[in-house]
Amino acid sequence: MTAPVNKMPGPKIFGQMKRKGQKIAMITAYDFASASVVATTDIDVILVGDSLGMVVLGYDGTIKVTMADMISHSAAVRRGAPEKFIITDMPYLSYHLTTRETKLNAARLVNAGAANAVKMEGGSESRLAAIREIVDMEIPVCAHLGLTPQSVLRFGGYKVQGKDEAAHELIFQQALAIAAAGAFMLVLEGIPELLGKQITEALQIPTIGIGAGRFCDGQVLVYHDMLGYSNMTPKYVKQYSDLNRSIPKAIMEYTKEVREGSFPTLEHTYYPIEKP
Ligand code: KIV
Repeated sequence: MTAPVNKMPGPKIFGQMKRKGQKIAMITAYDFASASVVATTDIDVILVGDSLGMVVLGYDGTIKVTMADMISHSAAVRRGAPEKFIITDMPYLSYHLTTRETKLNAARLVNAGAANAVKMEGGSESRLAAIREIVDMEIPVCAHLGLTPQSVLRFGGYKVQGKDEAAHELIFQQALAIAAAGAFMLVLEGIPELLGKQITEALQIPTIGIGAGRFCDGQVLVYHDMLGYSNMTPKYVKQYSDLNRSIPKAIMEYTKEVREGSFPTLEHTYYPIEKP
Protein backbone atom coordinates (compact mmCIF):
# COMPACT_ATOMS: atom_id res chain seq x y z
CA MET A 1 0.00 0.00 0.00
CA THR A 2 1.32 3.46 -0.82
CA ALA A 3 0.12 6.71 0.71
CA PRO A 4 -3.41 7.43 -0.64
CA VAL A 5 -2.63 10.62 -2.48
CA ASN A 6 -6.17 11.91 -2.88
CA LYS A 7 -7.33 11.45 0.66
CA MET A 8 -4.89 13.54 2.64
CA PRO A 9 -3.36 17.00 2.61
CA GLY A 10 0.14 17.62 1.32
CA PRO A 11 2.86 19.04 3.56
CA LYS A 12 1.89 22.64 2.67
CA ILE A 13 -1.09 22.35 5.01
CA PHE A 14 1.28 22.51 7.97
CA GLY A 15 2.73 25.82 6.79
CA GLN A 16 -0.82 27.11 6.43
CA MET A 17 -1.61 25.94 9.97
CA LYS A 18 1.40 27.87 11.25
CA ARG A 19 0.31 31.03 9.45
CA LYS A 20 -3.18 30.72 10.93
CA GLY A 21 -1.77 30.12 14.41
CA GLN A 22 -3.21 26.58 14.57
CA LYS A 23 -1.03 24.26 16.64
CA ILE A 24 0.05 20.95 15.05
CA ALA A 25 -0.33 17.75 17.10
CA MET A 26 1.96 14.83 16.25
CA ILE A 27 2.33 11.44 17.90
CA THR A 28 4.48 8.42 17.13
CA ALA A 29 3.10 5.02 16.15
CA TYR A 30 5.03 1.91 15.23
CA ASP A 31 2.60 -0.84 14.33
CA PHE A 32 -0.86 -1.64 13.01
CA ALA A 33 -2.45 -1.76 16.47
CA SER A 34 -1.22 1.64 17.67
CA ALA A 35 -1.81 3.25 14.26
CA SER A 36 -5.39 1.94 14.13
CA VAL A 37 -6.10 3.61 17.48
CA VAL A 38 -4.38 6.85 16.46
CA ALA A 39 -6.35 6.81 13.20
CA THR A 40 -9.61 7.17 15.15
CA THR A 41 -8.41 10.52 16.55
CA ASP A 42 -8.01 13.92 14.93
CA ILE A 43 -4.23 13.99 15.42
CA ASP A 44 -2.57 15.91 12.57
CA VAL A 45 0.54 13.80 11.92
CA ILE A 46 1.91 10.35 12.77
CA LEU A 47 5.65 9.96 13.14
CA VAL A 48 7.08 6.49 12.67
CA GLY A 49 10.09 7.39 14.77
CA ASP A 50 13.27 5.38 15.09
CA SER A 51 12.51 5.63 18.82
CA LEU A 52 10.88 2.30 17.99
CA GLY A 53 14.38 0.94 18.64
CA MET A 54 13.89 1.71 22.32
CA VAL A 55 10.16 1.45 22.93
CA VAL A 56 9.38 -1.50 20.67
CA LEU A 57 12.63 -3.38 20.01
CA GLY A 58 14.24 -2.94 23.44
CA TYR A 59 17.54 -1.41 22.29
CA ASP A 60 19.30 1.16 24.46
CA GLY A 61 19.14 3.77 21.69
CA THR A 62 18.17 4.40 18.08
CA ILE A 63 21.38 3.74 16.19
CA LYS A 64 20.83 0.00 15.77
CA VAL A 65 17.55 0.56 13.94
CA THR A 66 17.74 -0.50 10.29
CA MET A 67 16.04 0.43 7.04
CA ALA A 68 14.29 -2.96 7.12
CA ASP A 69 12.86 -2.08 10.57
CA MET A 70 11.66 1.33 9.41
CA ILE A 71 10.08 0.03 6.21
CA SER A 72 8.24 -2.78 7.90
CA HIS A 73 6.96 -0.62 10.79
CA SER A 74 6.05 2.27 8.50
CA ALA A 75 4.05 -0.01 6.20
CA ALA A 76 2.23 -1.49 9.22
CA VAL A 77 1.38 2.03 10.45
CA ARG A 78 0.06 2.91 6.99
CA ARG A 79 -2.19 -0.18 7.04
CA GLY A 80 -3.56 0.97 10.40
CA ALA A 81 -3.91 4.63 9.45
CA PRO A 82 -4.62 4.78 5.71
CA GLU A 83 -5.58 8.46 5.68
CA LYS A 84 -3.11 10.05 8.09
CA PHE A 85 -0.07 12.09 7.10
CA ILE A 86 2.86 9.85 8.04
CA ILE A 87 6.47 10.95 8.47
CA THR A 88 9.00 8.12 8.74
CA ASP A 89 12.45 8.48 10.27
CA MET A 90 15.50 7.77 8.14
CA PRO A 91 17.50 5.49 10.43
CA TYR A 92 21.17 5.88 11.29
CA LEU A 93 23.46 5.13 8.31
CA SER A 94 20.65 5.44 5.77
CA TYR A 95 21.68 9.01 4.84
CA HIS A 96 25.30 9.22 6.00
CA LEU A 97 27.16 7.48 3.17
CA THR A 98 26.61 8.24 -0.50
CA THR A 99 24.06 10.55 -2.10
CA ARG A 100 22.78 7.63 -4.17
CA GLU A 101 22.09 5.55 -1.04
CA THR A 102 20.47 8.50 0.70
CA LYS A 103 18.10 9.06 -2.20
CA LEU A 104 17.32 5.36 -2.62
CA ASN A 105 16.60 4.98 1.09
CA ALA A 106 14.28 8.00 1.15
CA ALA A 107 12.45 6.55 -1.85
CA ARG A 108 12.15 3.14 -0.16
CA LEU A 109 10.51 4.74 2.89
CA VAL A 110 7.83 6.39 0.76
CA ASN A 111 7.40 3.42 -1.60
CA ALA A 112 7.66 0.27 0.50
CA GLY A 113 7.06 2.17 3.76
CA ALA A 114 4.14 4.19 2.35
CA ALA A 115 5.20 7.36 4.20
CA ASN A 116 4.20 10.84 3.03
CA ALA A 117 7.53 12.32 4.08
CA VAL A 118 10.85 11.38 5.67
CA LYS A 119 12.65 12.84 8.67
CA MET A 120 16.40 13.13 9.13
CA GLU A 121 18.52 14.44 11.98
CA GLY A 122 21.15 17.16 11.96
CA GLY A 123 22.01 20.39 10.19
CA SER A 124 25.59 19.92 8.96
CA GLU A 125 26.56 20.74 5.36
CA SER A 126 26.13 17.11 4.29
CA ARG A 127 22.64 16.98 5.86
CA LEU A 128 21.66 20.17 4.05
CA ALA A 129 22.84 18.60 0.79
CA ALA A 130 20.84 15.45 1.58
CA ILE A 131 17.71 17.54 2.26
CA ARG A 132 18.15 19.33 -1.09
CA GLU A 133 18.65 16.03 -2.96
CA ILE A 134 15.61 14.35 -1.42
CA VAL A 135 13.37 17.39 -1.89
CA ASP A 136 14.58 17.47 -5.50
CA MET A 137 13.22 13.89 -5.82
CA GLU A 138 9.81 15.28 -4.81
CA ILE A 139 9.93 13.71 -1.33
CA PRO A 140 9.03 16.09 1.52
CA VAL A 141 11.64 16.28 4.28
CA CYS A 142 11.15 17.06 7.96
CA ALA A 143 14.42 18.00 9.68
CA HIS A 144 15.34 17.46 13.33
CA LEU A 145 17.73 19.55 15.48
CA GLY A 146 18.80 19.77 19.11
CA LEU A 147 19.05 16.59 21.14
CA THR A 148 19.13 14.35 18.07
CA PRO A 149 19.18 10.78 19.44
CA GLN A 150 21.36 9.41 16.61
CA SER A 151 24.14 11.75 17.87
CA VAL A 152 24.09 10.30 21.38
CA LEU A 153 27.68 8.99 21.16
CA ARG A 154 29.00 12.43 20.24
CA PHE A 155 26.83 14.14 22.87
CA GLY A 156 27.93 11.63 25.53
CA GLY A 157 24.33 10.85 26.51
CA TYR A 158 20.86 12.32 26.18
CA LYS A 159 21.66 15.89 27.16
CA VAL A 160 19.86 19.15 26.45
CA GLN A 161 21.60 20.90 23.53
CA GLY A 162 22.10 24.57 22.70
CA LYS A 163 22.72 25.72 26.27
CA ASP A 164 25.78 27.90 25.73
CA GLU A 165 25.93 30.86 23.39
CA ALA A 166 27.95 29.13 20.65
CA ALA A 167 25.73 26.04 20.60
CA HIS A 168 22.60 28.23 20.66
CA GLU A 169 23.86 30.20 17.65
CA LEU A 170 24.91 27.06 15.75
CA ILE A 171 21.47 25.43 16.13
CA PHE A 172 19.75 28.69 15.21
CA GLN A 173 21.86 29.05 12.03
CA GLN A 174 21.30 25.38 11.14
CA ALA A 175 17.55 25.88 11.49
CA LEU A 176 17.67 28.79 9.02
CA ALA A 177 19.76 26.73 6.60
CA ILE A 178 17.43 23.73 6.87
CA ALA A 179 14.45 25.87 5.91
CA ALA A 180 16.42 27.36 3.01
CA ALA A 181 17.35 23.81 1.88
CA GLY A 182 13.65 23.04 1.41
CA ALA A 183 12.52 21.12 4.52
CA PHE A 184 8.79 21.57 5.14
CA MET A 185 8.94 21.08 8.92
CA LEU A 186 11.52 21.06 11.72
CA VAL A 187 11.43 18.97 14.89
CA LEU A 188 13.22 20.64 17.81
CA GLU A 189 14.17 18.28 20.62
CA GLY A 190 15.75 18.91 24.01
CA ILE A 191 16.70 22.60 23.76
CA PRO A 192 16.11 25.64 25.97
CA GLU A 193 12.75 27.32 25.52
CA LEU A 194 14.27 30.61 24.31
CA LEU A 195 16.01 28.88 21.40
CA GLY A 196 12.79 27.05 20.45
CA LYS A 197 10.93 30.37 20.49
CA GLN A 198 13.54 32.24 18.45
CA ILE A 199 13.69 29.52 15.77
CA THR A 200 9.90 29.31 15.61
CA GLU A 201 9.63 33.07 15.14
CA ALA A 202 12.40 33.18 12.54
CA LEU A 203 11.13 30.37 10.30
CA GLN A 204 8.20 30.22 7.92
CA ILE A 205 8.10 26.41 8.15
CA PRO A 206 6.50 24.97 11.29
CA THR A 207 8.53 23.80 14.26
CA ILE A 208 7.43 20.77 16.26
CA GLY A 209 8.77 20.65 19.80
CA ILE A 210 9.62 17.79 22.11
CA GLY A 211 11.28 19.23 25.17
CA ALA A 212 11.68 22.55 23.33
CA GLY A 213 9.36 24.68 25.44
CA ARG A 214 5.93 26.18 24.92
CA PHE A 215 6.34 28.28 21.81
CA CYS A 216 6.83 25.81 18.94
CA ASP A 217 4.15 25.54 16.25
CA GLY A 218 3.29 22.01 17.37
CA GLN A 219 4.31 19.20 19.68
CA VAL A 220 5.25 15.54 19.31
CA LEU A 221 5.25 12.86 21.97
CA VAL A 222 6.14 9.18 21.84
CA TYR A 223 2.95 7.08 21.98
CA HIS A 224 4.23 4.83 24.75
CA ASP A 225 5.52 7.74 26.87
CA MET A 226 2.30 9.77 26.77
CA LEU A 227 0.17 6.70 27.50
CA GLY A 228 2.27 5.67 30.49
CA TYR A 229 3.28 2.55 28.55
CA SER A 230 7.08 2.97 28.76
CA ASN A 231 9.61 3.50 31.49
CA MET A 232 10.76 6.81 30.04
CA THR A 233 9.82 9.81 32.14
CA PRO A 234 11.85 12.76 30.85
CA LYS A 235 10.73 16.19 32.07
CA TYR A 236 8.97 17.00 28.78
CA VAL A 237 6.62 14.01 28.92
CA LYS A 238 3.08 14.39 30.18
CA GLN A 239 1.34 11.08 30.83
CA TYR A 240 -2.29 11.12 29.72
CA SER A 241 -2.91 7.51 30.71
CA ASP A 242 -1.33 4.83 32.88
CA LEU A 243 -1.11 1.67 30.78
CA ASN A 244 1.86 0.34 32.76
CA ARG A 245 -0.58 -0.07 35.65
CA SER A 246 -3.83 -0.91 33.86
CA ILE A 247 -2.34 -3.59 31.56
CA PRO A 248 -0.72 -5.71 34.32
CA LYS A 249 -3.93 -5.29 36.34
CA ALA A 250 -5.95 -6.77 33.45
CA ILE A 251 -3.43 -9.60 32.93
CA MET A 252 -3.47 -10.46 36.65
CA GLU A 253 -7.26 -10.57 36.61
CA TYR A 254 -7.24 -12.84 33.54
CA THR A 255 -4.61 -15.13 35.13
CA LYS A 256 -6.67 -15.37 38.32
CA GLU A 257 -9.86 -16.21 36.39
CA VAL A 258 -8.09 -18.90 34.32
CA ARG A 259 -6.65 -20.42 37.49
CA GLU A 260 -9.97 -20.41 39.37
CA GLY A 261 -11.93 -21.58 36.28
CA SER A 262 -14.16 -18.50 36.01
CA PHE A 263 -12.90 -17.82 32.46
CA PRO A 264 -13.96 -18.90 29.88
CA THR A 265 -17.70 -18.97 30.49
CA LEU A 266 -20.49 -20.05 28.16
CA GLU A 267 -20.40 -16.55 26.71
CA HIS A 268 -16.95 -17.25 25.24
CA THR A 269 -17.66 -20.81 24.07
CA TYR A 270 -18.47 -22.16 20.57
CA TYR A 271 -21.30 -24.73 20.40
CA PRO A 272 -21.53 -25.09 24.18
CA ILE A 273 -22.67 -28.44 25.58
CA GLU A 274 -25.23 -26.73 27.83
CA LYS A 275 -27.51 -23.94 26.58
CA PRO A 276 -26.76 -20.51 28.11
O1 KIV B 1 12.14 8.82 16.89
C1 KIV B 1 11.31 9.60 17.39
O2 KIV B 1 10.30 9.23 17.99
C2 KIV B 1 11.57 11.03 17.25
C3 KIV B 1 10.77 11.97 18.08
C4 KIV B 1 11.10 11.81 19.51
C5 KIV B 1 10.87 13.35 17.62
O3 KIV B 1 12.41 11.40 16.50
